[in-house]
Parts: sequence; structure tokens; C-alpha cells
Amino acid sequence: MRAVFFFNYDLCSSFFTIMNWKKLPYREIKNRVFEALGNNLNYQNEQILGLPATYLDQEQFYFNAPFLKDAPFLSVMIHNPNHIGCHTYSSGESYFKGTHQIEIDLIRICAEEIFNAEAGGYDGYVAPGGSEANIQAQWIYRNYFMKEKGAKQDEIGLFFSEDVHYSAYKGCNLLSIKPVCIKVDENRAWDLNDLEQQLIEVKKRGIKYPIIHLSMGTTMFGSIDSADAILAVFEKHFEDFFCHVDAAFGGFIYPFTATEDDSLSFANSKVHSITIDGHKMLQAPYGTGIFLCRKGLMEYSKTEEASYVQGTDFTLCGSRSGANAVAVWMILMTHGSEGWKYKMQHLIDRTDRICDKLDELDIEYYRNPDMNIVTIKAEQIPASLAHKFHLVADNFNDPKWWKIVTMSHVEKHVVDDFLIDLQKSI
Ligand SMILES: Cc1ncc(COP(=O)(O)O)c(C=O)c1O
Repeated sequence: MRAVFFFNYDLCSSFFTIMNWKKLPYREIKNRVFEALGNNLNYQNEQILGLPATYLDQEQFYFNAPFLKDAPFLSVMIHNPNHIGCHTYSSGESYFKGTHQIEIDLIRICAEEIFNAEAGGYDGYVAPGGSEANIQAQWIYRNYFMKEKGAKQDEIGLFFSEDVHYSAYKGCNLLSIKPVCIKVDENRAWDLNDLEQQLIEVKKRGIKYPIIHLSMGTTMFGSIDSADAILAVFEKHFEDFFCHVDAAFGGFIYPFTATEDDSLSFANSKVHSITIDGHKMLQAPYGTGIFLCRKGLMEYSKTEEASYVQGTDFTLCGSRSGANAVAVWMILMTHGSEGWKYKMQHLIDRTDRICDKLDELDIEYYRNPDMNIVTIKAEQIPASLAHKFHLVADNFNDPKWWKIVTMSHVEKHVVDDFLIDLQKSI
């Protein structure tokens, strides 16, 4: 009874890197990005016939705009390098080696420093978003079970809690995997009795190969799934399983605020892959989902027929923007790991202030103390107040919960206005 192992991290925990990437001065970030761009193929002074021009339309986005010399991200956008493929796994297209290297460094920071992977024991790429990264994981595991275990499609199940992001269902629909939704208790934790019952049921219905989708920060509640308790139940029932962690929302906050908990990282030998989104907590441009998995797994999403792509393709999306990888890397370099921890702690303090007042007013809500999401029971606050401050409903047609997400736009005076209005309303 075991998770499918690709690396035995129990044996090599001494290889783990401690989170410690350095903040770089802006001048150095700029120089590194321009240097990377200089190492890409140059359409202006090289003889290029076969490769399509990927740089942006020059009537609209011209190379000689004077501000570009101080705008590394915009410069990369205009040159528009294609990062098709997975560069930690296969060297890929030779044309854009410079910016590929930045993406490789970004994936290293995310996998090794934030999510405790062994040096070189992972693969990853910058995906269009968290949905693709979650579906990429399902795709890899489905193909593994079919290829290595002779599984039929209707023998593979995806297990998740009722608080899961809807991309879990989307992936099941696309890949013909059976979705299995487990109830949560009043603390938004998986109901382990329901899990036990459903595992017995689905086995009778022929499910033999589970893929487990855990969340580090559910969309509506910011709740964190308890890997150990949940996986222990699966181990009682199944020989093999894969476990994917959806840290699309929580991945750039929880590891920085709950530094003792590594159960949803690669330090846990039963975790096989992780989604993190740059375009959520990191405030990177849209198109910056990040997919990470253990080395060896990427092979199961290889499209053999992609023969015109150097190094072939392993991703769902195919062509993807190199500028997106550069944007995420620049943000991480601007703050350094210590600066980012400090910024996230500041958000936690601000969220604490909201919760202290809710406690004082005796208003019911859910919050994980290491997260910046507060979800208030709908009957506890007037809908007009929720609308005034643009709180997000679990279901806008029939709200049962309203959520507050404390990010940098949630300034102290806005929090004060909300709390004053709330106090007046009760
Ligand atoms: C937990 C979680 N996973 C996945 C996603 C999907 O991300 P995207 O919209 O980037 O595809 C979201 C989006 O809100 C999310 O909150």
C-alpha cells in the first residue's frame, strides 16, 4: 500500500534547499533580463527563413520606442520568445535559450526553495494558469495508469473535497476521469468518515486507480487540506495513488507564513505534483500558472507527434509566452525570499485585524490563521454591505458565504470603513 514513488525523499532530506533566494537591485534584474534576451535568436541581424517571426507586430509595438531600454519586461513581450516545451526536462527549441534559462531558474526557486524538492529532482513550466496546471497533473497520472498498469479510463478516479476549484471537474470532463467529491466538516476539513465510505463504494463500482487532489488554499475559504490524515485513508484502500497539490492560491503565501508545515510540499514523498499561480498572490500578469512535478513524470504527457518542435512538447498548451516566465522571475528577484515573507506576514496581520473585530462582534466566519482569506456566513452580514465592498459570494444566485481576500489593495482605511459599517449594521 503506497503512493507511486518517483524519488525517495525520506532517504535524502539532507539535499533540501532552505528558502533563501536573494533580493537583487533593479539594475541587476534589468541587466540579467536584457542579457537573456541577447542570448535568444535575433530576428534583426540573423538570417531566418523557416522559423516564423514571433516578435510582435511592428506597426503597433515597435522595437525602437525610447522607454524600452528601461523596461525589461516590455522588451521581452515585444520580442515575444516562444517557450513551447518543458525546459527542465528537455533542452527544447534552441532559438530562445536565454529566456529559457530564466524560466529554468524560476522553476528551481519554486520547486527547490519554496516546495522543498531535491536539487534537480523535479520538472516544471509556466502554464497559462492554475486550471491548466491542475489538468496537466490529471493528464500525466491518467496516462501513467493506462500505460503502466493497463488501466481502463473508467477505473481512474479523481478525489477532492467539496471546496475544490472547479478546474478539477473540468479536467475530469476532458479526460474522462471519474470525479469523486468528499464532504467537508465545519472546519472545511475532509470528512474522513465520508471518505472511508466513498472509497468502499467506488471500489465496488470498479475504481482501482485514485488521483488525489489536495488544496493548499481553497478558492472560497483558503482552507488547507491535511495531507497526512487524508492519505492515510487512501493507503488503507489502494495499492497505488498519485497526489496533486493545488496551491494555485496558497502557494505564494502559505509556505511563507506556515514555515513549519511541509506536508503539502515535495518533502512529503507522497506528493507528486503542485500547481502555483503567479497571477494570484504574486500579482504577476495573467498567463503565469506554474506546474511542478517529480522528475520522471513529465514523460507521460509527451506528445510524440510534436516532431517539428525541437525537444518535442509535454504541455497541454503548446506555444507559451517567455515574457510571462520573466515577469514572475522579476517579481521574485525584486523581493527576495525574506522580503516576500515580510510582505506576506503584513497581509496576515491585516487579516488578523479583521478577524479580531469579527470576534468582538460575534460574527461567524472561517479562516485558516496562516492565510489571508476570511469567509463570513452570509446570514451574519447585510447583502448590501457585501455588495458595497465587492465581497465574493460562494454562489451569487444564493449566497451562503461572502469572502474577503486581503491583498495589497485592502488598505487599512478600506478595512476600517468596512468594519465601521458592519458595526453600525448590527
Ligand atoms: C485553488 C484554485 N485552483 C485553481 C484555480 C484556477 O486558476 P486559473 O483561473 O488561473 O486557471 C483557482 C482560481 O481561482 C483557484 O483558486
